Amino acid sequence: MANDTAVAAPGVPPALERALKRERAARERAEAILESKSRELYLANQALTEEHERVRRRNEEIEKAHLALQEAQAQLVQSEKLASVGQLAAGVAHEINNPIGFITSNLGTLKSYAELMKRLLEGYRRHATAGDDAAQQGELLAELRELEETEDIEFVLEDLDELLSDSIAGAARVKDIVQGLKSFSRVDEAKLAEEDLHAGIESTLKVVANEIKYNCSIEKDFGDLPPVTCNLAQVNQVFMNLLVNASQAMESQGTITITTRADGDFAVVKFRDTGSGIPADKLGSIFDPFFTTKPVGSGTGLGLSISYGIIQDHGGTIEVESEVGVGTEFAIRLPFAAPEEQQA
Ligand SMILES: Nc1ncnc2c1ncn2[C@@H]1O[C@H](COP(=O)(O)OP(=O)(O)OP(=O)(O)O)[C@@H](O)[C@H]1O
Ligand SMILES: [Mg+2]
Repeated sequence: MANDTAVAAPGVPPALERALKRERAARERAEAILESKSRELYLANQALTEEHERVRRRNEEIEKAHLALQEAQAQLVQSEKLASVGQLAAGVAHEINNPIGFITSNLGTLKSYAELMKRLLEGYRRHATAGDDAAQQGELLAELRELEETEDIEFVLEDLDELLSDSIAGAARVKDIVQGLKSFSRVDEAKLAEEDLHAGIESTLKVVANEIKYNCSIEKDFGDLPPVTCNLAQVNQVFMNLLVNASQAMESQGTITITTRADGDFAVVKFRDTGSGIPADKLGSIFDPFFTTKPVGSGTGLGLSISYGIIQDHGGTIEVESEVGVGTEFAIRLPFAAPEEQQA
C-alpha cells in the first residue's frame, strides 16, 4: 500500500491508478499487435501486388501464345491447301503419264511400220516403172512378196488401225484431263459468278478419278439445277474433299451416289457412300480442324473443316448422316443467290 501511494499521482486513488496502468499496458500491447498486423498486411499486400503483376504478365504471354497459335493454324490451313494442290498435281501427273506413255510407245511402233510402208511403196513404184522386162518384174514382185511375208504385213495393217485409234483415244484423255483441270482450278478467280454445279461436279470427278476409280463406282442422279452464284473453284474443293473421303471410307469396293436437286431458294447436292460409316460418338467432331481417324501422315483432318468454312462463307450449310457399316451421306445446301457480304 505504502509503495502504491508513493508512485501514485496525488489525489488518484490507488485502485484507479492500477486500472489506468492496466489499461495503458493493454493499449501498448494492442498497438504493438496492430503495428505488427499492419506490417504483415503491408507485406501481404505487396506480395499480392507482385502476384497480380505476375498473373497479368502471364496473361499477356498466354494471349501472345494464343495469337501465335492462331497464326500457325492459319498457316497450316494454307499449307494443307498447298499440300492438296501438290497431291492433286501428283495425281494429274500420274493420270497424264499413263496415256502419254502408251502414245509414245505406239508412235515408236508406228514409225517402224511407216519405214516398212516406205520400203514397200518404193518397191511397187520400181515395179510399176520396170518396163516390159518380165524377168525383172518377176524378180521385183518376188522380193516384195517376201518382204510382206517376213514383216507380216497383214498383222501390221491390222495393228496400224488399233495403234492409231488407241493413240487418238489417249490424246483425247489427256485433253479431257487438262480441260477438267482448267475449269477446276480457277483458284485466282475469287469473284462470284453464276455457275453450273453439274459442270463443277464433272470437272472435279475428272480430277479425282485417279484417286477414287480403283474402289468406287460413281452414280449420278442429277436434277434440274439453275445456276448457283458461287466461287466454283472453292465449291469444287468441297466436292473433292467429300469424294476423296468417301473413297477412303470404302473397305473394298463401293458406290458413291451424287444427287442434285433444287429446293426452294437452295441447290442441294448430296454425296452418299457405301463406306464404313461414322460412329455416333465421332459424328460431332468430324468438322473440327485436325480431327482425323486416318493413320499419321495420311490425313491432316482439315478437309472437312475447310469445306465447312467454304460452304458457310457461301451462306449455305453442310450436314452429315451416317450409319456404321452402311455408309455416310453429306448434304450441301447452297443458296442460288450468294449472301450480300459475299457479293460485295
Ligand atoms: N465419307 C466418310 N465416311 C466415313 N468417315 C468419314 C467420311 N468423311 C469423313 N470421315 C471421318 O471424318 C474425319 C475427318 O475428315 P477430314 O476430311 O476433315 O479429314 P481427313 O480425311 O482425316 O484428312 P484430310 O482430309 O486432311 O486428308 C476422317 O478422318 C474420317 O474419320
Ligand atoms: Mg479428308
